Amino acid sequence: MGRKMDVVVLFGGRSGEHEVSLMSARSVLGALDRSRYRIHPVGIAKDGTWWAGEEALDAFQRGRVAGLTPVTLLPIPGKPYLWEVKAGGIRPYAHVDVVFPVLHGTFGEDGTLQGLLELADLAYVGAGVVGSAVGMDKGIFKDVMRAHGIPTAAYVVLSRREILADAEAAAEKCEQVAPYPLFVKPANLGSSVGITKAHNREELLAGLELAARYDRRVVVEQGLDAREIEVSVLGNDEPQASLPGEIVPSEEFYSYKAKYEDENSRLLIPAPLDEAQTDLVRRLAVQVYRAVDCAGMARVDFLLDRATNQFFINELNTLPGFTSISMYPKLWEASGLPYPQLLDRLIELALERRDERRQLRREK
Ligand SMILES: Nc1ncnc2c1ncn2[C@@H]1O[C@H](COP(=O)(O)OP(=O)(O)O)[C@@H](O)[C@H]1O
Ligand SMILES: [Mg+2]
Repeated sequence: MGRKMDVVVLFGGRSGEHEVSLMSARSVLGALDRSRYRIHPVGIAKDGTWWAGEEALDAFQRGRVAGLTPVTLLPIPGKPYLWEVKAGGIRPYAHVDVVFPVLHGTFGEDGTLQGLLELADLAYVGAGVVGSAVGMDKGIFKDVMRAHGIPTAAYVVLSRREILADAEAAAEKCEQVAPYPLFVKPANLGSSVGITKAHNREELLAGLELAARYDRRVVVEQGLDAREIEVSVLGNDEPQASLPGEIVPSEEFYSYKAKYEDENSRLLIPAPLDEAQTDLVRRLAVQVYRAVDCAGMARVDFLLDRATNQFFINELNTLPGFTSISMYPKLWEASGLPYPQLLDRLIELALERRDERRQLRREK
């Protein structure tokens, strides 16, 4: 056997999903095959500083960085290191073969981190800059879906500025989209943070004001009476779709509370769909994945309208929840790919992508 591969596992981060990331990272760190990989856990604190150490995850879960080593990555191709940051300068801390970002939301899932990893010429798990950024922005994502003829719920994108300038006019614009209920979402957050289901003008105004606190852009869309069907997609140029799963939220919609604080939301795996619907949603998932130039993995989430039995794309998550009981890995397990092997495959795909990138011609 060759030498062990150096895998940097990043978790925590500056987003509202810091704690969710720690849960995902616990499963990933527990399942990576230590006979193949040398693991370097690195926590990113809420202030954006990076901390390495064998015990980094435990330390982060206790909310402490004492005893950990301050590290960083630098955009220097050909120097694949995690660097230790010391008062007198920097020095290599660990060699890096592949980076596994287990980070959800802003500064982890949105293309910013991926930009740094590209500049450093490092292999990394998951989508590249464009796929990550488009997957993160609910407004741009829907625009891309529309361009590809993939059905979305009717929607409109508003700016924070226009909401603050004249909330009543903004609300009127939203009411043109569809009858109530309307969903109001900050364009760039996840985990249902800042999302409102508005049943009337008053709730819409409150929802717009709330969402505008979180983002410069706000998406307002038709609220469907729908089942929530999700598909896991894995691969680079030849992506594969898992069996679909279904979420049965414990509340009126899949809110932050229903996702993380309530045990009563259920996952149905596989989703109870007939064969034709199963095939259709799997094909749609791959189509969505390709449309945003995704790589590595994504969970593709659909709304299945109860009235018309039609699928609408809701969103694509490039770094979906990744605990061993999360939908993304559960769907692969049900499709014949157990969690540890899924991790191996994601690392292979990261290396494949880096090798391909290195073969591309850069000069005229
Ligand atoms: N257009 C819609 N119609 C019906 N339910 C919706 C709609 N949009 C969102 N929801 C509900 O709100 C939840 C969160 O919305 P989503 O767009 O998935 O945001 P997040 O990125 O926070 O997961 C969904 O899981 C679903 O329960
Ligand atoms: Mg969602």
